[in-house]
Amino acid sequence: MIAEKIRKLAPSGIRQFFDLVLGMPEVISLGVGEPDFITPWRIREKAITALEEGYTSYTSNKGLTVLRRGICAHLQKKFFLKYNPEEEILITVGVSEGLDLAMRAILDPGDKVIVPAPYYVAYPALVEIAGGKPLLLETSDREDFKINIGHLEELVKQNPKAIILNYPSNPTGTTYTKAELKKLCRVLAKKEIIIITDEAYDELTYQNNHFPVAAFDKKIRNRTIMLNGFSKGYAMTGFRVAYACANKKIIEAMTKIHSFSMLCGPILSQVAATEALRCAQEVTEMRQEYKRRRDFMFKELNRIGLACHLPTGAFYCFPSIKKSGLSSLDFARRLLFEEKVAVVPGTAFGEKYGDFVRMSYATSFDNLKEAIIRMERFMSKLD
Ligand SMILES: Cc1ncc(COP(=O)(O)O)c(C=O)c1O
Repeated sequence: MIAEKIRKLAPSGIRQFFDLVLGMPEVISLGVGEPDFITPWRIREKAITALEEGYTSYTSNKGLTVLRRGICAHLQKKFFLKYNPEEEILITVGVSEGLDLAMRAILDPGDKVIVPAPYYVAYPALVEIAGGKPLLLETSDREDFKINIGHLEELVKQNPKAIILNYPSNPTGTTYTKAELKKLCRVLAKKEIIIITDEAYDELTYQNNHFPVAAFDKKIRNRTIMLNGFSKGYAMTGFRVAYACANKKIIEAMTKIHSFSMLCGPILSQVAATEALRCAQEVTEMRQEYKRRRDFMFKELNRIGLACHLPTGAFYCFPSIKKSGLSSLDFARRLLFEEKVAVVPGTAFGEKYGDFVRMSYATSFDNLKEAIIRMERFMSKLD
């Protein structure tokens, strides 16, 4: 009964592994991909008030005007990035929907999309569902998992239609400086490749300030589909609210699909997001706490023999487990059963990453401290 394209699709490696975790007591999970903070109260209160006031209808397909205007003003203020709120922005149901719409709007059957690896699990799957073909661009811990310009130049020769740039990255926490992004854009400009940016973690950047490639110049902006949302930085995963910014033609195409498949984003979440844009202080406090945990994890993982590059954004460490002599799946399984710590095997993010695991520090400091004690014991047993 199931379409061949879907039958062939590999299930999410994260889901498979976490089916094991479900129901196991006393597990410290470093596997989660969402903030451990509850949405700031002001945002929740706004949603409650909106519900009391009877905001229960559809909105326009593109989303509430007040939210589109608010986001455009936010982007202008923060990055000097100008989008017309009437024509160049679409409110989506999470960055997830934005990714799906972007692929479906631009890909014809067989079109290639460069996906840097290790990748967020949804990318290759969404490219394939839209009829495209992912071209994996492998990266290495020796280069902090950043895209190698020579490798990019090689892949560009295959005439891809688009590339997905995710920074800060899930799963590695890698970010790019403005100068590094400029070099990438120069290569991509040669073939007018569409740049789909997933900037879901932009608020969680700990070293250099985040810079959206669309802010370079008009030419790059017009070839970029910038995706961002409220899930991570504002701790609003359950609200399912995000946005896509791009040139008018692309937004029209994405809106066409969205109007048939989704109709619109949930109104309460859209109202809540208008308040989120006023919560810079709350976001800063959460960022500071993530940074404190990042510093701790980076130091401790390297101390116990799990060599880790410094993640400069998001809330993940991606240490090497080579020293354990185990595959990432065996490492994760044994750590779970023997010490009750859940991490995600690196192969969930690309088959070449079996020497790594992903650890999320979106959990309490106490949990992280206990997880390190357990992992140190685990590593010493293996010696
Ligand atoms: C890189 C990346 N993009 C997108 C998403 C999905 O975000 P949203 O909740 O906005 O759909 C996630 C969630 O883990 C992610 O890590």
